[in-house]
Amino acid sequence: MDHMDRRDFLTTVTVGGAAFSMAGALWPTPILAAPGKPADIGQCKSVKVTCVSEVGWWDTKKLIKGLMAAGGPKKADQWTMPSDLNNGAGSSSLIEVTLLDGKVKRILLDTGWNPAYMAWRYQMTGVDKLLKQNKIDYFIVSHEHLDHFFGLEATLRLNPKVTMVIPETFRPQARQFMAGKSFTKASAVTNVKHQGKLMVMKKSGVHKLFDGAALSVFDIPIILKIRGEQSLYFNVKDKGLVLITGCCHQTILKYADFAQKNIKGGDKMYGLYGGLHIAPFGPLKPPQAAWIRGMAQYKFKKVASNHCTGLPAVAYMKKLGYPVVGGRGMEGSMSKLYVGNSDAVTFG
Ligand SMILES: [Fe+2]
Ligand SMILES: [Fe+2]
Repeated sequence: MDHMDRRDFLTTVTVGGAAFSMAGALWPTPILAAPGKPADIGQCKSVKVTCVSEVGWWDTKKLIKGLMAAGGPKKADQWTMPSDLNNGAGSSSLIEVTLLDGKVKRILLDTGWNPAYMAWRYQMTGVDKLLKQNKIDYFIVSHEHLDHFFGLEATLRLNPKVTMVIPETFRPQARQFMAGKSFTKASAVTNVKHQGKLMVMKKSGVHKLFDGAALSVFDIPIILKIRGEQSLYFNVKDKGLVLITGCCHQTILKYADFAQKNIKGGDKMYGLYGGLHIAPFGPLKPPQAAWIRGMAQYKFKKVASNHCTGLPAVAYMKKLGYPVVGGRGMEGSMSKLYVGNSDAVTFG
């Protein structure tokens, strides 16, 4: 990790009687690009993404019913509202980056929702072995939403010492969860404490992870009373930038715009993977359709959007002639229109 700045951060967060010390966490210093001079994150040879799981939940009607009973998406708090674990699946991706010298770095992005479901997904995609053999270099949590984070135990059971990367915007409850506290009403249960290195990413600038790979934190309020999402950038030599996201609550337009303005090589977009939170709960509405039309300006060569992008949104991308990557619609994924469970896409 470049630009590492180790601080003894001694703040202790206390919620509901339990305390979690952040002592020893690493707070890397971001690359702060000068105006008009985008950050140089280096280059890599290729990026392969395996969809461990893109199924956030099984039944949208049930999910919405639960949300409304808890006060609606803006008032409900995911850490205190009752949630039905049987309806939970989860989002998680394995990112394998080949560097220019041929070495491979591996990132696990997110840990899904239902730990039992995620244990199955890890088995089906070989992530279980990679975790056990310590071959995951970074376990990055894009944001603390239940479908990306409540399955934490599935990952930590296989490797409690894995290096975790979280955004500075994580709520105290999320940090307590990592320290082994369960939130039983919300069905967020864990029996394993994170014992490895913790990297907390600051809200500003671009964080370089290794040559050709970086992330940035978008400090925004998100439904279910959480804040902030971090999204990834990869600079593939001779191809361009690949953007990889969890839910993209900041919107695809803000995400791609940030990349263009702040990352060297951002004038040439190449690929896109992950959830875009466009139509996750139902039909495509006019403002969201406008976002999709707005994506045209970036001229992506490969678009692999799944998870909370929503099937109507992917169908519209296809209708507009975008280079949408399809899948096999198996192991829980409902359509061949997008990259689904156990499908993979290579950029480079
Ligand atoms: Fe999600
Ligand atoms: Fe989300």
